[in-house]
Amino acid sequence: MLGLDGKTAVVTGAGQGIGREISLLLAEYGTRIAAVDVKPDGIEETVSLVREKGSEGYAVTCDVSDYDAVRECVAGVLAWSDQVHFLVNNAGITRDNLLLRMSLDEWESVLKVNLTGTFNFTRALTRHMLGKRYGRIVNIASVIGVMGNAGQSNYAASKAGIIGFTKSVAREFAARNITANAIAPGFIATAMTEALPDDKRGEMLRMIPLGHFGTGRDVAHVVLFLLSELGSYVTGQVIHCDGGMVMS
Ligand SMILES: NC(=O)c1ccc[n+]([C@@H]2O[C@H](COP(=O)([O-])OP(=O)(O)OC[C@H]3O[C@@H](n4cnc5c(N)ncnc54)[C@H](O)[C@@H]3O)[C@@H](O)[C@H]2O)c1
Repeated sequence: MLGLDGKTAVVTGAGQGIGREISLLLAEYGTRIAAVDVKPDGIEETVSLVREKGSEGYAVTCDVSDYDAVRECVAGVLAWSDQVHFLVNNAGITRDNLLLRMSLDEWESVLKVNLTGTFNFTRALTRHMLGKRYGRIVNIASVIGVMGNAGQSNYAASKAGIIGFTKSVAREFAARNITANAIAPGFIATAMTEALPDDKRGEMLRMIPLGHFGTGRDVAHVVLFLLSELGSYVTGQVIHCDGGMVMS
């Protein structure tokens, strides 16, 4: 019924956090995982966990912001798997600073990884998906791309860019049975949020109607829905997974 068994997904930023949770949940449903990350150690571990779930995995070290490296990476994945059905653009970084102090490097590095990285993988895989007349793309944006946040203008711009990009891709490829959606997670308990001081954590919790941080698994559930047959009539949407922080 879900139609995930035996399909292949490319998941970027799969070495830890939300990307690993997405990989493992999909693996539980029989999806083969090409786990991509700029750091090699995490994806080796993700792939061994994918195998423990009874599915197949392939680890590829690749910097999503490097256009040529992404093309090479995709060629390698397509040698491993005849068809790639799913792409989850999840790799992301933060380099927070107030605008008046933000360096050009802090601005550009976040845009390059988060937004250009999403472009690079989508660009590299859509021709293949067009040929197969099938594809499901999920881009991980953020609540910050919708609400904005002081000290995160670079991150907010990258995530808002992902939302506009997703809607355009959805329109461009809808007639070929390729859907594209974005997920906007709120505050998710990962290494990113664990590092926060207690007063900041308290402040964030007060913004969440459900009263607790989300988990990587919560985000993975939404990815699963969008990639499965259950989500086949959903495209060009931004699904909020944020405990009610943004209601529209
Ligand atoms: N944690 C949250 O609260 C939260 C909230 C909203 C959105 N998000 C988004 O979810 C995604 C995952 O976040 P996370 O919390 O799991 O972060 P994380 O830092 O735990 O994991 C991110 C992964 O991406 C990889 N990565 C970084 N730069 C890369 C590059 N250039 N090429 C390939 N891989 C690269 C890292 O090595 C890491 O494994 C990100 O896009 C993030 O912006 C997170």
